[in-house]
Amino acid sequence: RTRILTGITTTGTPHLGNYVGAIRPAIEASRDPDNDAFFFMADYHALIKCEDPLRLQSSRLQISATWLAAGLDPQRVTFYRQSDLPEIPELCWLLTCVTPKGLMNRAHAYKASVDQNVADSEDPDAGINMGLFCYPILMAADILMFNAHRVPVGRDQIQHLEMARDIAQRFSHIYGGGREVFVLPREQIDDAVATLPGLDGRKMSKSYNNTIPLFEGSSKQLREAIGRIVTDSRLPGEPKDADNSQLFTIYRAFASESESAAFRGQLEAGMGWGDAKQALYERLESEIAPMRERYDALMARPAEIEDILQEGARKARALATPFMAELRAAVGLSAAR
Ligand code: TYM
Repeated sequence: RTRILTGITTTGTPHLGNYVGAIRPAIEASRDPDNDAFFFMADYHALIKCEDPLRLQSSRLQISATWLAAGLDPQRVTFYRQSDLPEIPELCWLLTCVTPKGLMNRAHAYKASVDQNVADSEDPDAGINMGLFCYPILMAADILMFNAHRVPVGRDQIQHLEMARDIAQRFSHIYGGGREVFVLPREQIDDAVATLPGLDGRKMSKSYNNTIPLFEGSSKQLREAIGRIVTDSRLPGEPKDADNSQLFTIYRAFASESESAAFRGQLEAGMGWGDAKQALYERLESEIAPMRERYDALMARPAEIEDILQEGARKARALATPFMAELRAAVGLSAAR
């Protein structure tokens, strides 16, 4: 059987990029009877960027409701909060002790923060906590704990998967007695939507403030967000360059190939940006509206979500606890009797 696993950091409201990059492919994969699926809220990861307990809490609830509204079946999927599994930070420490510092020096997110500090002629380490520096190790613990084969993610996570494999191999090299202790995980990336652009054309990201929320808000708010997508100044009647338009890229992530080809044809034939935005809205709304209705209903019943997550943590720990005991023994930490 193939184990698939993915997580979302609970730092904000889920957006269209999270949906097409991770949630939608993950849920599709979870419906394959040959797969065992593990999906979780990465709330320990969230602490690195968020110092607001209330925001963390509301984001956890929103992301849980999002998964369920998008079709996750908790009977079939092990669905949990990272912070409900004490085994995760425990494994994270064992992995931390086999991870070379130099490997973490190369992590994109950490390097970007250092480069930004240098560009702002500040102390290179300003504002960087050890959580950010060790972020990829915690993510490796998430993945290796369940020996996941495939990890559905957006392209921005490729380096994290490489590091997880690297860390797994180092652990095995030291403690495996000639065997691989962990399954080496592979990213699963949908090339068509590997990086969804945001309103301004950069990668859609909470940190760029250029996101289109998936369910939070109303259809009117979705229409307004689409209205804020940046377009060039070509007038109605002038041909549009679909390949350089984030509006078209977002459309394509939600449409069949033939629908996208037809939309491209209309843009190249001079469709105005206003009409194009309306067409994008209609396409998105038809996919999102039924899920948004379930989302709103779930958000009104947080206790029900809590029950589902408690059950998910129980299922996850039934695997994690015995595996952790094996790993403790491998490094020399088992009890003497
Ligand atoms: P996070 O919370 O930043 O994003 C969650 C998922 O959404 C994908 N994504 C995108 N995909 C396409 N286009 C975009 N614009 C876009 N923006 C975000 C991300 O690639 C990701 O798949 N480190 C992870 C969370 C995590 C994790 C894990 C993932 C923690 N442990 C273990 C997989 C396995 C993160 O911060 O994702």
